[in-house]
Amino acid sequence: MSLTLANAALLRTQNFINQQWRDAGQGRRLAVANPATGEVFAHVPDSGDDDAGRAADAAADAFPAWSARPARERAQLIKRWHALILANQEDLARIISTEQGKPLKEALGEVLYGASYVEWFAEEATRICGDIVAEAVPGRKLLVLKEPVGVVAAITPWNFPLAMIARKIAPALAAGCTVVAKPAEDTPLTALALVWLAQQAGLPAGVLNIVTASRESTPAVVDAWLADSRVRKITFTGSTPVGKHLARESAGTLKKLSLELGGNAPFIVFEDADLDAAVDGLMASKFRNGGQTCVCPNRVYVHESVHDDFVERLARRVGALHVGPATDEHAQIGPMINARAVDKIARHVEDAVARGARVVTGGRRVRTADGPHYYAPTVLIDATPEMELSCEETFGPVAPVFRFRDEAEVIRDANDTPFGLAAYFYSNDVRRIWRVAQALETGMVGINEGAIAAEAAPFGGVKESGYGREGSRHGLDDYLHTKYLCQGQLG
Ligand code: SIN
Repeated sequence: MSLTLANAALLRTQNFINQQWRDAGQGRRLAVANPATGEVFAHVPDSGDDDAGRAADAAADAFPAWSARPARERAQLIKRWHALILANQEDLARIISTEQGKPLKEALGEVLYGASYVEWFAEEATRICGDIVAEAVPGRKLLVLKEPVGVVAAITPWNFPLAMIARKIAPALAAGCTVVAKPAEDTPLTALALVWLAQQAGLPAGVLNIVTASRESTPAVVDAWLADSRVRKITFTGSTPVGKHLARESAGTLKKLSLELGGNAPFIVFEDADLDAAVDGLMASKFRNGGQTCVCPNRVYVHESVHDDFVERLARRVGALHVGPATDEHAQIGPMINARAVDKIARHVEDAVARGARVVTGGRRVRTADGPHYYAPTVLIDATPEMELSCEETFGPVAPVFRFRDEAEVIRDANDTPFGLAAYFYSNDVRRIWRVAQALETGMVGINEGAIAAEAAPFGGVKESGYGREGSRHGLDDYLHTKYLCQGQLG
């Protein structure tokens, strides 16, 4: 086994239901492999609908007492969890790197990023408040209360095995909800370690439950929660087709939904931009996690008057990126999550080249000593809207550059997608900044900034990128519903 931890207890390989670590009811196991080498280094439960049902039972039973706890007490428990995450940050980063492949330094950044949401929502727990509304009729009082929605099912992706689940569980617990969670089949160990730390922090039985499942068994787990009327909310990060499936199938019990789905982010460099800052911003946003994030720029639009200069500066930086295994301390781009991911990247680049794009740097698969799941950081020019990479997220280290002539044209092209998660643009013209920021059809806009995610900001999209927000007070509101009280006979 290739994973050595200072705190060996963090390596959990069972489900956690009602305060007990247990195997799947059917006894099936799921192999966890290092994405670079394919080496299987752990096994976790391959759960079914019976395990999902038991987790929902525990969460439903725990809800009345947990939601009735004073907010200050909930906040203290979440703060203790936060402190334990920080105390175990190096081990958590090692688990992330081993099962997901991001370089160790980047994995450590993810632990701190995820922990910042936990701390934020611990603090927000004590600031949940409603309203007292001016009464329309004398002798009446109108009050608005915020109440936890109930049991929440959290379904999370592989690209940020810690941060995505942390920013769902923390607001749910802060609001007074109880949780059933299912992490991605590729990266279950980080989530299990995080839940173990929550147990050490003193969370009561049934408040937080987690089951792991393979790609084949996941539908049974999720369907059990979709059909369960006690599960009042689904929070999901992942693909748009799965998000639409959850929206359709949860209609039977009309659950509340938060869906953080696919993106196709434009990154626009206007002629008045600071080009060095724009290159810095693109490097930060495009090559984070090897290009495997929903907010990575997928289409880079550069004004024709600065196009060649920008491309030259960008290619120099991209060509210098170091590709290597997560254990290589110099690695900046690790392996992609699996062979399918590398095949998709290669297919997008081949399609673009066949339709007239030119490779400035990269444009090829890379095989390192530990395996074939790597792709060279790539810059393409002469990209056009017909290319597959213009319509679909590449989810890899490829920056296709489109040339544009004027603002109206680039806004039309940037918005010409069903997706609307993030957009970025660089300009030093204050009037243009407001015009463009308002014209872009996305939930988030980076203006002269490539790193936009933060615990205090509402993360989420519009159009087919989903709805609901994570982070900020809006992220807590998604776990609360509004109750109106009208008291009469006071005159
Ligand atoms: C994602 O890729 O879904 C999330 C990225 C982030 O939090 O910045």
